[in-house]
Amino acid sequence: MAKCRVCGAPAEAYLDYSRTYLCSRCFNDYYERKVGATIQRFKMIKPNDRVLVAVSGGKDSASLLAVLRKLLPDVEMAALYINLGIPQYSDHCEEKFKKITEVLGVESLVFDLKRELGFSIPDFRRTVYRRRLCSPCGTIKRYLMNKIAVEQGFSKLATGHHMDDIVETLFNSYLHGDVEQIVRLKPVLSSTHPKFVAKIKPLWNVTEQENLFYATYNELPVRTVGCPLAKGARSLEQKRYLSSLVEHIPNFRHVFLSSHMRELLPALERSITAPPLKECKKCGMPTSGEVCAFCKRAELVLGKISNQSPKFKV
Ligand code: AMP
Ligand code: FES
Ligand code: ZN
Repeated sequence: MAKCRVCGAPAEAYLDYSRTYLCSRCFNDYYERKVGATIQRFKMIKPNDRVLVAVSGGKDSASLLAVLRKLLPDVEMAALYINLGIPQYSDHCEEKFKKITEVLGVESLVFDLKRELGFSIPDFRRTVYRRRLCSPCGTIKRYLMNKIAVEQGFSKLATGHHMDDIVETLFNSYLHGDVEQIVRLKPVLSSTHPKFVAKIKPLWNVTEQENLFYATYNELPVRTVGCPLAKGARSLEQKRYLSSLVEHIPNFRHVFLSSHMRELLPALERSITAPPLKECKKCGMPTSGEVCAFCKRAELVLGKISNQSPKFKV
């Protein structure tokens, strides 16, 4: 049986990218040190920050909340869950969210899309997004996470994006030459407007598999079902491509991300100027167009299911 490289106890975790075996205790130490180093290196959180942690019910953001609570017990923190109204999924995730915030003793905020705004993500089936519901879902979630953080006076919004997510997104943006998207994807996205909260990704340097180990060894309550709307989504296909690359080149993600950060991002950042921000005509939030992406989608879906406009006003 394989032994832990640090203490020699029976190993439980195998890290593919470094071909290392660790027992669960040494793995937890390693994971916490790695996340702590990322927070320090990118100066993500200061002692007087108020951090809103977006928690979806999955293993990644559950690990994020647990590790932040452990590493920064004195920092003011709350967790946010957005119930997207997806049958057989959203209520299950909310239950896990409530459990984890209880176990960790973190204040919890729940935003229920259907109750607050009158539509849910499955309602987008009646729009042009019917075959790609993840797209409006992402727009709605990003908008609400930011808006709630700003309105409730949080200085940082933390999400559970991990190295696999980041490399997948970057890889895809490189394929399509989407320089703006590449430049926006950073461990810390500072606030460029009073209505934009600063966004941080403390799991920038850990893999999805490491989150799974951390959630399992710490017995975190996490969802046991996947989103039924994401079946066949392009993002799942990209995940498979990335896994097959990693099978052949185990440290592919680490090498790709570090050369991106060291060489390419600084050069790309110099070549891009952010578009000027205006106020959305509908909701007043900052946007580069006349009406923000959230309001466009909310109007579209509400127009299909009723004759309402979004109830959401600033
Ligand atoms: P995803 O875009 O689904 O991969 O999720 C990325 C991150 O966004 C997660 O790690 C969470 O931090 C956050 N997130 C996703 N869905 C929700 C949700 N329903 N409620 C709160 N946060 C979420
Ligand atoms: Fe957004 Fe499934 S969680 S489409
Ligand atoms: Zn708007």
